Amino acid sequence: MDTIKEIIDPWEFKEVKNYEKSMKDFGISDFSKYTKKLKNAPIEIRRGLVIGHKDFNKIDECISKKKKFAILTGLMPSGKFHFGHMSVINQVIYYQKLGAKIFLLSADIEAQLTRNLSTEETKKIAIEEYLLNFIALGLSKKNFEFYFQSEGPKRSKEYNNLSKLASAKTTFNEVKNIYGDISPEKLTSALIQVADILYPQLENYKITLTPVGWDQINHASFSRDIASRMNFFLPCFTFHKLLPGLQGIKTKMSSSDPSSHIALTDSEKEVENKIKKYAFSGGQPNLKEHKEKGGNTETDISFQYLKLLFEPDDKKLNKIKEDYESGKLLTGELKQITIEKINSFLKQHQEKREKAKKELDKFIQ
Ligand code: TRP
Repeated sequence: MDTIKEIIDPWEFKEVKNYEKSMKDFGISDFSKYTKKLKNAPIEIRRGLVIGHKDFNKIDECISKKKKFAILTGLMPSGKFHFGHMSVINQVIYYQKLGAKIFLLSADIEAQLTRNLSTEETKKIAIEEYLLNFIALGLSKKNFEFYFQSEGPKRSKEYNNLSKLASAKTTFNEVKNIYGDISPEKLTSALIQVADILYPQLENYKITLTPVGWDQINHASFSRDIASRMNFFLPCFTFHKLLPGLQGIKTKMSSSDPSSHIALTDSEKEVENKIKKYAFSGGQPNLKEHKEKGGNTETDISFQYLKLLFEPDDKKLNKIKEDYESGKLLTGELKQITIEKINSFLKQHQEKREKAKKELDKFIQ
């Protein structure tokens, strides 16, 4: 069994059974050395959500020698912008502050091809759910380029040609090897994604980093294979674990299922209801047992959100961990802490999002 590759499907969520094995399968290196090295890194990096990379040493060098580099990443506009998406954008903002040029795209063609959404729907989602939230999270318009796949970036002609020319640099066998049996529209999306990833090189950014979730590993391999055959530089990547959905550590936040995610536009009441009703608890079935055995912070979703997103203070987080594991802190109390943290973040965020509406034009010209 060990020789069988972990299956990763970028379009359909599959639980990752063994991260170490899939890192080996896809030639991904361990990121922990940089977790410690990167200064003032966002919580997603500090607390170990980002676990793998390809060629991050090049980015590390650019950061320490103040050399030019770019970030290219994209999101498929398929629904609400939730905490899972936020963990990518926080990384993008961090690199922007370190001086990187940011290329950010809305994968609207991919959404139309693989999610059956219309042009109007994808545009509306990209602006209202994505861009406004990006701006509110702190993305700056300086050193920033945004584009829709359907319209292309600045050099749109070359970008459009790139995905077509890339098709001559692969074979059905290779595609099958990387993606399994995929449909024509998925192959088209994959080739467009290769063009996205290589695009900054056409604007003379030779060193690029694409921070993506674990489900995008296939695209990383595909783009590096094609890059080498088209005389592009090899794009660098970081890979993060997908933020767990409310229902449990092995699930994923999904835009299409409101009971799996918390969206950045959810109201206080919605947050409270979702955490109370859906957030998987690592606590014991009854008070007596909980006091005796304590709760499990590894599987408790409220704790995981505090750890990975909302409690940056290590001391405070450790205290919560100790209290929960010793049984002193009860599930209801832990949930309440999480609800308050999330709501205080969202209150400020939503005010910023309102203000961002005035700035929107400057980001999409
Ligand atoms: N496939 C990505 C998603 O599902 C979107 C995407 C398109 C992307 N082009 C990209 C991601 C380039 C990173 C880099 O969300």
